[in-house]
Amino acid sequence: MSEKKFNVALIGCGVIADFHLQGVLAQKDCVLYAICDNATDDRVERRRAKYNPLHTATDYRELVNDPNVDIAIVATPDNSHLEITSAFLKAGKQVLLEKPMALTIEECNEMRRVEKETGNRLMVGQVARYNPNFKKAKQLVDSGAIGELVFVESEYAHDYMRSRGYDDWRVTPEREGMIGGGCHAVDFLRWIAGNPTEVTAYSTHKYLTDWPVDDTTIAIYKFPNNVIGKVFCSIGVKRDYTMRTCLYGTEGTIIFESHGTEMKLYQVDKNGKNYTFPKMVPCQPKGHNMTAEIDDFIKAIVAGEPNPISSIEGASTVAVCRATVESAKLGQPVQIVYPEA
Ligand SMILES: NC(=O)c1ccc[n+]([C@@H]2O[C@H](COP(=O)([O-])OP(=O)(O)OC[C@H]3O[C@@H](n4cnc5c(N)ncnc54)[C@H](O)[C@@H]3O)[C@@H](O)[C@H]2O)c1
Repeated sequence: MSEKKFNVALIGCGVIADFHLQGVLAQKDCVLYAICDNATDDRVERRRAKYNPLHTATDYRELVNDPNVDIAIVATPDNSHLEITSAFLKAGKQVLLEKPMALTIEECNEMRRVEKETGNRLMVGQVARYNPNFKKAKQLVDSGAIGELVFVESEYAHDYMRSRGYDDWRVTPEREGMIGGGCHAVDFLRWIAGNPTEVTAYSTHKYLTDWPVDDTTIAIYKFPNNVIGKVFCSIGVKRDYTMRTCLYGTEGTIIFESHGTEMKLYQVDKNGKNYTFPKMVPCQPKGHNMTAEIDDFIKAIVAGEPNPISSIEGASTVAVCRATVESAKLGQPVQIVYPEA
């Protein structure tokens, strides 16, 4: 057990900040050193009253220059990730960055360049990997519970009607739903089935008609080992938020929802039959599990081990999402080009 207490600064006190703040307070090796936001309303004051940080700031550069800060959690709009993350890395801090790593491959590459140059850590918070249901599904697949994968599908269905972000930052031509939200489903399938090589996608625009991007996309992927896959992503659907997922293998099937309380596990018997009645595996509907994410990040720092979700992972997910958007725009298949390791 480490005796070191890491001073953590959280940049961005928006919707996702509360999950991070709860995670920092739950972590025995962390001190909530500072929170920062440049909004003009009382969001910093409200978080200060609730979480009791040692300091508050309105300009993140105060914390970049503060030698007491060890770790920065960057939870600001996607188009600010490069600037803020690079500044903290250059100042010798470790960074846990919200997903998506960035909106473009170029921004991801630049952050990775700074990470390498400085030797500091950059973990990308693809938090679906800490959702207990996704973790359980991954364990089952890895243990061979459904045989060899055949077809994998996941979805990101989330109505953004009231989720425009502070100052409408989500409502821009650059912030494609497939990158901002679809990255969760894409990242999960990459985690399960590896890096897809090719994508064919279609998209449409019928829900958020005042937004400058298509709101609904369907994408099919070629994964390694002859596995095929599909992602449905919509930021306009009229239903509660879900990432419904089906994983089909040669010897069984797993069906669940990200926020569901049980998972259906079909398994053939040793004669290859009798899969009619699925086992109902109990699940924990815990979506934004930043507590586990922060815990894993800190454990890796203390043990001197690689980041649980490295920057190449974050950048590869962005590469798949970008290729998906490109395919939908071009109306043809696109080969996926990954950043160099
Ligand atoms: N992991 C997840 O499931 C998940 C869910 C939602 C959002 N996110 C990601 O988290 C990030 C924040 O999203 P949100 O929903 O909390 O948005 P939000 O609009 O609710 O909050 C963003 C906050 O960042 C602040 N901010 C902007 N620029 C800043 C700067 N230069 N310095 C300090 N503060 C600044 C804004 O004032 C605002 O309070 C985004 O990258 C988003 O994609 C992740």
